[in-house]
Formats: sequence, structure tokens, C-alpha cells
Amino acid sequence: MTIPIFSGKRILLGVTGSIACYKAAGLASSLRQAGAQVDVLLSSSASHFVSPLTFQSVTGRKVFMDEDLWGAEGHVVHVGLAEGADLFVIAPCTADTMARLAMGRGDGIISLTALAARSPLLLAPAMDGGMWDHPATQANAATLQERGATLLGPAEGHLASGQLGVGRMLEPDELFDYIRLALAEGGPLSGRKVVVTAGGTQEPLDPVRTLTNRSSGKQGYALARAALDHGAQVTLVSTPAGIQTPTGADLVPVETAAEMLGAVLEAVADADILLMAAAVADFRPIDPADNKIKRRQGTPEILLEPTEDILEAVARQKTGTGCPRVSIGFAAESRDLLENAAMKLESKSLDLIAANDITAPGAGFSVDTNEVTLLFAGGRSEELPQMSKAEVAERIIKEAISLLKTSS
Ligand code: CTP
Repeated sequence: MTIPIFSGKRILLGVTGSIACYKAAGLASSLRQAGAQVDVLLSSSASHFVSPLTFQSVTGRKVFMDEDLWGAEGHVVHVGLAEGADLFVIAPCTADTMARLAMGRGDGIISLTALAARSPLLLAPAMDGGMWDHPATQANAATLQERGATLLGPAEGHLASGQLGVGRMLEPDELFDYIRLALAEGGPLSGRKVVVTAGGTQEPLDPVRTLTNRSSGKQGYALARAALDHGAQVTLVSTPAGIQTPTGADLVPVETAAEMLGAVLEAVADADILLMAAAVADFRPIDPADNKIKRRQGTPEILLEPTEDILEAVARQKTGTGCPRVSIGFAAESRDLLENAAMKLESKSLDLIAANDITAPGAGFSVDTNEVTLLFAGGRSEELPQMSKAEVAERIIKEAISLLKTSS
């Protein structure tokens, strides 16, 4: 699946000699599928573990090796590779490669291209625990970081030597997420704080049971990812959704509407944008039982009281703080979609509300698609076709960026 932040990006992937090389093929494949152009640079020791053909097959492009430095184009091949690259990732990165980079050597296609490249450098070390701990490696790691390189890992776990220790390369999925984050740097939301709420709140009836709703949290998490892709600092206030927190987001875990209210008011005090995608309970049991309600006690009567409207509380706080500069709400309706959404847009002082008819096929809870109509303060509206929740999120973030530009 292509991901907008990757499309048109050129990533250099240096692969050096470690058993973790085979994992680099998975990483190269994911980057290409996401839409990036991936140029693999394979060291001669790495080619003992994985053949260039493997990388050529997953990237659809020529793989560069030390021999290429001596071909007809040899005098410029490293410069050509470095030119215009968006990112240089070395994964796995051996202790020897770190030493060469730290010394600024140019004795192979990878170190030579690293000298020529001006793009951010991400290194994913992979080696045995003792090699990682060695003062020489630690000093090299410190030197490289001082010069602006980012070290991803290594992680703790089983090492090729059979030992447990720190030295494992991060998994390709984790590296992919860090690469995504690095590509987003300098995006239109750089230096901006975005608060996203996600999931359905859970109001306790007793220590075992809660009153909750069908929200899956998927749209909220997709919004958090899209905001990160545009370079934002993201605070994600979420109920337990069983979805992995996007790399780079600060998760504030909550369960009840009252906890979400407190977390949101604190997070938005200095935020630029609030995206209130959570399904917040409107009522909660007045007096949750201290002990599990037993069947033999007979059918319980549960009295409810209203919860506070979080968006209304945010609007009141904003009169003092001026933050968030842009507030966006969501309205999941089963009838009178546009009328209800328009009322909420006004009563909750929103800049934009995304309304969706939960009874429509391919929209609403649990599914990966959504069909929303955007209603703006001031009366403009736009009906979007059915699309993935990731695409809806991308669209809403773009609208948030233009609203931020026009907000005073
Ligand atoms: N919302 C909120 N605080 C609440 C309830 C809802 O901030 N206590 C937010 C939701 O996160 C959403 C928007 O208000 O962004 C609309 O939520 P919705 O449940 O559709 O609206 P309600 O005002 O609760 O109206 P109703 O449930 O009666 O349709």
C-alpha cells in the first residue's frame, strides 16, 4: 500500500555484513511498496549473507557494490547516489562500518557515499553484545551522534552467538516507522503540537463491567499517524484500543470520560490543533459498585448522570489560553446527519466537523473505510467519497493545516 509521505522519496539503504542482512530485504521491500525509490548499497561482506539479486528483485533497481566504484562511471557513482537522496539508512550497520564512518573513511561504496551524502543518516547497529559494549564502538556511536547521525537501536534479545544481550538490529517494522518519522521532519506541521483523541470511553458499572460503545479507535490512530507524517508533535489521548501507538506519538492512556477530559484540557493548553475523534460517553453510572454485581442480587437498577462535554470545556478554556487554535470534531450519526453535525459544529465552537452516517455500508465502527462529509464553520461543506480511514485522516490533516494558516 502506498503511503503519501514515501512517494517520490529516494532512500539509500546501505546493507553491511551481519546475519541481520536477510531482514534488510524485508525492509527494502516495505519501503518500495510504500512508494519510495530504494537504492541498495551492498558491502562485500553483506553479499556473503544475501545476494544482490534478492535486493534487486524487491526494489526493482540495480544494487550497488564495491565493484561499481571501478566501472566506467566509477569516478562519480557515489556522488550520483548521494545527490538528492532524502535519507541514508544503514541497516544492519556493523561495528566495523560504524568505525569507518566515525573516522570518515572512504574505503567502500557505503562509507564513500556516506561522505558524499548530505541527507540525514540513520544507523541500525547489529552486532554481538560484547562488540556493542566495547569502548571503541561506544566512542564511535557517540561521535556519529554528535555529528547528527541517528542511532536506531540496537535492541536487547537473542544474538547470533546464542547469548542474550544488547546488539540485535531493530525489527524491519520498527525501522520502517523510524524512517517514516525521519522523512516527516521539516513537514508543514513541524514545531506544531497536535492532540488527537481516540477510542470509546469506558464507564465502570462495577470492578468487572463497563458501559462503553463500539468505537474501534481506528480513525483516531490514523489521524495521529497522518499528523506525524506532516511533522507534528503528537499527543494521542486514547482508551485501550489494541492498536500499536504510532512511533513518535506520546500516548496518554485513559479509560473514562472524566479522565479524557482532564488529559485533553492539559494537552491542549499549548496545542495548535485538537482532533476529537474519540467516542465519549454522554452518561456514566452515578455510583459504580465497589464489588462485582451478583446475579443472585436480582436485576440491578443503574442510575446514570451526564458526563461533561469535552469540546465545550476546551472552548471555554480557549478563551483564556487561545489554544488550541483549530478544533475539529467528529459526528457519528444514524439519522439527520447534516442537521445534527451542523448543530454540533456550532454548539461546540468547532472549525470543522467530520460527519459520518454509521448506517452506511463501508463507514463507521471497526471497518477500515469511512465516508464523511466535512462541514466548516462559515457554512462550506464537502461530501467525500468512500475511502480508507488513512485517506480520510490525510484529508482532514490537510484541512487542519489550511485552517491553522488562516487562524489568527
Ligand atoms: N464529545 C465530547 N464530549 C462528550 C461527547 C462528545 O467532546 N461528552 C465530542 C466527540 O468526541 C465528537 C463530538 O463531540 O468529536 C460529537 O460527538 P457526539 O457523540 O456525536 O455528540 P454529542 O454531543 O454527544 O451528541 P449525541 O451523542 O447526542 O449525538
